[in-house]
Amino acid sequence: MDRERHIKPTTLILDSLHKERERGGFVSGEELADRLGMSRAAVWQRISELRGMGYVIEAQPHHGYRLANVPDRMLGYEIERSLGTGIIGRNVICYDAVSSTNDIAAEMAEKGEPEGCAVFAECQRKGRGRMGRSWIAPTGKNILMTFILRPRMRAVNAPQVTLMSAVACAEAIRVVTGLPALIKWPNDILIGDRKVCGILVELFSELDGIRYILVGVGLNVNVRREEFPGEIVETATSLLDELGQKVSRIALARELLQKLDENYSILRESGFSSIMDKWKEMSATLGRSIRVTWPDGKKEIGSAYALDADGALLLRRETGFTARITSGDIQILGT
Ligand code: BTN
Repeated sequence: MDRERHIKPTTLILDSLHKERERGGFVSGEELADRLGMSRAAVWQRISELRGMGYVIEAQPHHGYRLANVPDRMLGYEIERSLGTGIIGRNVICYDAVSSTNDIAAEMAEKGEPEGCAVFAECQRKGRGRMGRSWIAPTGKNILMTFILRPRMRAVNAPQVTLMSAVACAEAIRVVTGLPALIKWPNDILIGDRKVCGILVELFSELDGIRYILVGVGLNVNVRREEFPGEIVETATSLLDELGQKVSRIALARELLQKLDENYSILRESGFSSIMDKWKEMSATLGRSIRVTWPDGKKEIGSAYALDADGALLLRRETGFTARITSGDIQILGT
């Protein structure tokens, strides 16, 4: 009862409509009116509000209402609804437009927001990528999301979170689309040799450990290749382009949060080794010939032969010597 007193009537109506939808049926106006303690006219009014938001709700005489479709918008209610996660997604916030979801999450983290909070946006004015690049995405077509973590680990172990996030994103894409998503070190997600998802990890630490980590995920969902900016049109792809059909961003966002939650709990409870095993299984990098761009801009070609226990990529140089890659950029050249 308490919950019902504080929840908006439209949310209660949506709860009932979703429940009946799962059973394939209608819910009568009378039943909704009884549950909400309001008149049938007031129920009708709320149904109109929901339709105004883009929900497709059929009304049939003697049967009542049936939820036929949810809008293609990142709606907190739809993402959170019976999500069942322990940590990730326990607070979901959705914006139409922000500078960057990482900026919003940083402000919240600074104010003490607990870990697991996820910030989504339909559009970013200043989306950021790795290595100081920008991240551009058309409004309302992709997933732009940042979540806050407060892991009890030393800052040197933060790359574990980077690789864990990549594993979760690749798994979520595989579950929802069936596409063979692979991981390019450290955390780009590829379909074939094109990038479908990028992850930006920002670490805020003090001498005694990590204060919080922001993990920003940019996933190309329903954007078409021709909408990509010129400089990435040859190397990027989207789920729409790969599948030939649109993908529900809500379903994908929910799976993403579930996979992140699952893998974060594996990392916390069992350590990094099983995450590393999954990462290796989905790696597009190990065993390949690569070009490394070191942080000072120098380039070098070699073979990516292993991942070490800290998540660094091991490079066999043309001289036969090896090098550890902990930051920088790589390009896959061939087998
Ligand atoms: C990369 O360079 O591959 C990382 C791209 C990360 C983009 C996402 S979109 C949501 C979040 N907010 C940002 O400003 N960046 C990340």
